[in-house]
Amino acid sequence: MPRGKPTTRGIKGAPDILPERVAAWHRVEAVTHRLMAACGYLEIRTPVFEKTDLFVRSIGAGTDIVDKEMYTFEDRGGESLTLRPEGTAPVIRAYLEHRLGTRGPLCKVYYLGPMFRHERPQAGRFRQFHQIGAEAIGLGTPAVDAEVLALLTHLFEALDVRGLTLELNSIGDAVCRPAFRERFAAYMRGRRAELCPDCHVRLERNPLRILDCKVERCQAVAAEAPKPSAMLCAACEEHFREVQSLLALLKIDFTLNDRLVRGLDYYTRTTFEFVNPTLGAQDAVAGGGRYDGLVEEMGGPPTPGIGFAVGMERLVASLPKGEAAGVPASTGVFVATLGTEAFRSGLLLLQDLRRRGVRAAIDLEGRSLKSQLRSADRERFRFALILGDEELKAREAVVRDLKTGEQAKVPISRVLEHLLAILEG
Ligand code: HAM
Repeated sequence: MPRGKPTTRGIKGAPDILPERVAAWHRVEAVTHRLMAACGYLEIRTPVFEKTDLFVRSIGAGTDIVDKEMYTFEDRGGESLTLRPEGTAPVIRAYLEHRLGTRGPLCKVYYLGPMFRHERPQAGRFRQFHQIGAEAIGLGTPAVDAEVLALLTHLFEALDVRGLTLELNSIGDAVCRPAFRERFAAYMRGRRAELCPDCHVRLERNPLRILDCKVERCQAVAAEAPKPSAMLCAACEEHFREVQSLLALLKIDFTLNDRLVRGLDYYTRTTFEFVNPTLGAQDAVAGGGRYDGLVEEMGGPPTPGIGFAVGMERLVASLPKGEAAGVPASTGVFVATLGTEAFRSGLLLLQDLRRRGVRAAIDLEGRSLKSQLRSADRERFRFALILGDEELKAREAVVRDLKTGEQAKVPISRVLEHLLAILEG
């Protein structure tokens, strides 16, 4: 056994989600499952760890995630494993491993779960965080881009999250990107002296990642660099135009942001982020884009794909005020009893209610009726069922509506039926 004081502190950047906040998370999850089903996405659950090489190959050596942020460890068999920093690479791995592409031209899957990145923790940025992600694999048409973006806007609408801005860009494909990369690298070599030491390394290994550098003077140099959108080939131009035209048709507002290249190497063509300006420095609620070369890069046949991930912590922080705080509506029944016999009858009624899925509680401490009713109120119960030995003698109970204060006497034989009826109403 280790000596010294037991630790009562969790890991920095890996917060607990406490019971009072969980209601908001449940709502987000329930809305997500419903919406994904409506849009034809099936849930997939992949493990939280994978072979390290999967992420290095897909996200790319030279990216911040791979170089600085992965939780990588050797297991007892000497194999290098990594806690997933994101969900796209594991989904593509599963897509290839289980031949999900043979089931139809477009494989649509979604996932929810924890991701892990060793970033510097700050408001809205964590080391364990959660994502809702979706991937549509198999078709490269602009209609899929529009459908994916529509799905995201439906999610925000259904949760009443307002004030997000959709930023959109196209970063080209295997045809136009190499020429852009070369021009970009040449420009950066010309301004090498102004870049930070990290960017000197980026310039050698993965020049485009200079765009992710947080150092001010590097950002100033990057702001003047050639833009991918200015060098798109005809096919990418056409694709991007059609995506924009479909978004206009669907009345999805967006702003073009030609600096949006995203921090993962697998993207091609359309990239996007939903930004909530009220969140402070960590304002990206969701991000995603096309990755038409990724499946092939991972050993599969040439297969286009597109997807997104929403940061759940940032989504919950964007919910309308009361909900983010997790204030639940009042529900269910508090069984308030006075006297031993009343308690025993109350206990039986409690079982009946819970068995039917009704939220119900009873006092286990033998407190006064007043303090029982006070906790019923505090715990946001909608009704109180009041049972005293006197009432029992008359084979009656009092049902009080804790919201309106109205109360009624109901025969004990009918009390369950009565409660179920008013709870429905
Ligand atoms: P990402 O932009 O790295 O993309 O992450 C997506 C979202 O996850 C971000 O917009 C943010 O809301 C949230 N997020 C990322 N890192 C953190 C963090 N340290 N703390 C809190 N929230 C965070 C991806 O992960 C891609 N796999 C998305 C994708 C799916 N692209 C195609 N398909």
